[in-house]
Amino acid sequence: MCGIVGYVGPTQNGTASDVVMEGLARLEYRGYDSAGIATLDGDTVAIRKRSGKLINLRAEIDAHPLPPTTTAIGHTRWATHGGPTDNNAHPHRGGFDGRLALIHNGIIENFHSLKTRLVDTGVSFSSETDTEVAAHLVAAAYERTGDLTEAMRAAVAHLEGAFTLLAIHADQPGVVVGARRNSPLVVGLGEGANYLGSDVAAFIGHTREAMELGQDQIVTITPTSVSVIGFDGTPAEGKAYHVDWDAAAAEKGGFPSFMEKEIQDQPHAVGDTLLGRTDAQGRLMLDELRISEESLREVTKIVIIACGTSSYAGMVAKYAIEHWTRIPCEVELAHEFRYRDPVVDQRTLVISLSQSGETMDTLMAVKHANELGALTVAICNTHGSTIPRESDAVLYTHAGPEIAVASTKAFVAQITACYLLGLYLAQLRGGAGAGQVQQVMRDLHDIPAKIETVLGRMDRVREIARFMADTRSVLFLGRHVGFPIALEGALKLKEIAYIHAEGFAAGELKHGPIALIEPGQPVFVIVPSPQTPHDLHAKVVSNIQEIRARGARTLVIAHDGDDDVVPFADEVIRVPECPPLLAPLLTIVPLQVFACELASAKGLDVDQPRNLAKSVTVE
Ligand code: AGP
Repeated sequence: MCGIVGYVGPTQNGTASDVVMEGLARLEYRGYDSAGIATLDGDTVAIRKRSGKLINLRAEIDAHPLPPTTTAIGHTRWATHGGPTDNNAHPHRGGFDGRLALIHNGIIENFHSLKTRLVDTGVSFSSETDTEVAAHLVAAAYERTGDLTEAMRAAVAHLEGAFTLLAIHADQPGVVVGARRNSPLVVGLGEGANYLGSDVAAFIGHTREAMELGQDQIVTITPTSVSVIGFDGTPAEGKAYHVDWDAAAAEKGGFPSFMEKEIQDQPHAVGDTLLGRTDAQGRLMLDELRISEESLREVTKIVIIACGTSSYAGMVAKYAIEHWTRIPCEVELAHEFRYRDPVVDQRTLVISLSQSGETMDTLMAVKHANELGALTVAICNTHGSTIPRESDAVLYTHAGPEIAVASTKAFVAQITACYLLGLYLAQLRGGAGAGQVQQVMRDLHDIPAKIETVLGRMDRVREIARFMADTRSVLFLGRHVGFPIALEGALKLKEIAYIHAEGFAAGELKHGPIALIEPGQPVFVIVPSPQTPHDLHAKVVSNIQEIRARGARTLVIAHDGDDDVVPFADEVIRVPECPPLLAPLLTIVPLQVFACELASAKGLDVDQPRNLAKSVTVE
């Protein structure tokens, strides 16, 4: 997600701007599409900001130098609300006199209603962002309180969602105020200077003494003081610690790899993708879909096109979309869709799934769908990338930049976004599915915590992975929504551990693959919840018996409380109970961790595996 830097203190060489620009450079790894900086300039605030990379911002500063100052905030933006333009870049000015500047990481869920109220009071906006709402709220509160800390406290009382905010005001040189809810903020404790950052990489070049802020806390830093209060105004304490990571490790948040970090970030990826997409009554509102409700009501067929992991996300989503909307839903590899003569017309909704938004196979398939007259919607994680631009509409996932080549958090975010789109269609079209929307949204909001639970149970999985470092073949079985998870688990192992791995539909076993089973053959089996309709659960338990009887080593992923699998499992990996259609968001996690740990045990580079690129921009 976005990168945030704040600084107050004397400047050893250069000005506070240099310290902040250096911090932004260290945060570039987070991925971003615009950048900006604000400093105090006598009786006002100076802001320089540009879309694109830091080099553009540096050129702007060279052309329009910033005044020497001891107070500055800086930001690298990963666009969520509003495209990556100069105007939408942070910092944003607040108030009628523009003497306050603010930067933000996260998503303000209720910004629509807040913006309407501000416009009604005569406030004019210069950007499409949710952030600018916060800037005007803090500025308005400052007019009343005359104190930036109190103004921040008054403003955050109105905000819902996830946010880290930093603000400076021309009236208060040497002061930066920060606030955080559901989004990280750390303080760098210096000698006669203090720092703020979205992570320690922002200031690790200046100090290794840090203090992590807790939920709903506000921090005020000056060159010689750091004070923390709760949103309720009561004094609070941050958690001080010494940073013993080097700069490279700091970029990974202390994790050994970006892939590990991104696996751990999946609760946020799901939670942030859900943020801001329901109204106060719990009804879905997908404002960014620029397709008329009438057109969506007339859709008679859905085709999901994607490649690799993204195609498996589509296969998972198919089950839910058909169940909720009763619209036939096909999933097709983009590079196959393009060359077959598909039956597509203006009432076909073609949904492309792409983390990068640049996969050439998927892009060409979208263009083919457009030529055939289909409605095209891109579900994408990269704002302003090519595939959304070539589509009629876009629904962005909010997983944040995914650095590791092997997709993990983008995968769960894509499934989540597909669920939102399917539920939205059901809500629009009425019928049985419409009545389920609010319950499913409640169930979806429980998923981030359930993923956290799974992540907390991975010690044994890591142990198994290290024990299996020399294995040469692993099979994966799943049924129903577990089948695409079997395919994805196999792909993870192939692409980062270079091990032959194959995923099968469990029902397919007796039609050939069971011939592969020999004593000691490791087989992961994704077992549906016992609550799954029909007798799917019982059938998969039978499959486990069949392969165990032939000597397979059965590694079973099963829900809490499912004891039927125990007699036939060499290992049982538990995930919390959840509605069957949402289970893939949990059952994929042990397979990601297994692949990552096994590849690491083999000494391989899990982030940049051989032969692979993060975005396949050639056909
Ligand atoms: C997934 O781990 C791989 N990196 C690959 O299969 C990827 O999902 C595929 O190339 C599609 O990429 P996209 O989502 O950026 O379009």
